Amino acid sequence: MDNKVKILVLFYSFTGSTAKLAKYVAEGAREIDDVEVSVKQIPELLPPEFFNSKPELKKVRESFAHIPIATLEDMTSSDGVAFGTPVHFGSFASQWKQFIDQLSPVFVKGTMVGKPAALFASSGSTHGGEEAALISMIIPLLNLGMIPIGVPYPIQGAGSDFDAGSPYGAVYVSGHKGDKAITEGDIKIARILGKRLAAMAKIIRHGCDNLPQCSFLSAPYE
Ligand SMILES: Cc1cc2nc3c(=O)[nH]c(=O)nc-3n(C[C@H](O)[C@H](O)[C@H](O)COP(=O)(O)O)c2cc1C
Repeated sequence: MDNKVKILVLFYSFTGSTAKLAKYVAEGAREIDDVEVSVKQIPELLPPEFFNSKPELKKVRESFAHIPIATLEDMTSSDGVAFGTPVHFGSFASQWKQFIDQLSPVFVKGTMVGKPAALFASSGSTHGGEEAALISMIIPLLNLGMIPIGVPYPIQGAGSDFDAGSPYGAVYVSGHKGDKAITEGDIKIARILGKRLAAMAKIIRHGCDNLPQCSFLSAPYE
């Protein structure tokens, strides 16, 4: 088995803000040694015709079009996954859920059981539904057996005024017109989230090599 711990930063983005946050989550994950981090996006469900009459939107989307499209295999072969979504009407984007809803065979086999998951979201406005989106994402991921990793306020470090992120994951409020710059606080929380995810994935992967009892995390109960 490849000894490197694999972290996937997997997001859907409609206009690029969640893609911005993904970059910093990935940076945080790379702070842990011997971790291979990839950033991929969830396939678009809207047909190309939807974008044809929207040249401005098309242009914005070109800024993150270079990020590879994820396959289910990208997810199942990872040791830990950070999931990102924009807030759409107070919840996660349907593109994200559609990706997850293809995972019945994965659910049955238990492939994701015992692997850590981290969450991040971008919304237009503060309290626009970012916490609801993050918490809702945990539900299907717990069904898959994943272990949620958050960002507890006490570990946010010096200079933190509890004014960025959330205990449930990283957040970027992009503003009503999507023109609000990502703040230093948002970036810091995204990095902490990625680093915690990678550390936990490494602990679970390699810790279990040396601590047989911990195999119960992904084995049938006896
Ligand atoms: C269909 C749709 C629904 C949205 N609903 C909300 C919402 O409920 N609350 C909110 O704060 N922003 C909402 N927004 C704004 C986005 O969450 C915001 O622009 C976010 O930063 C977009 O992330 P993205 O650029 O990765 O797509 C919505 C945007 C779209 C396109």
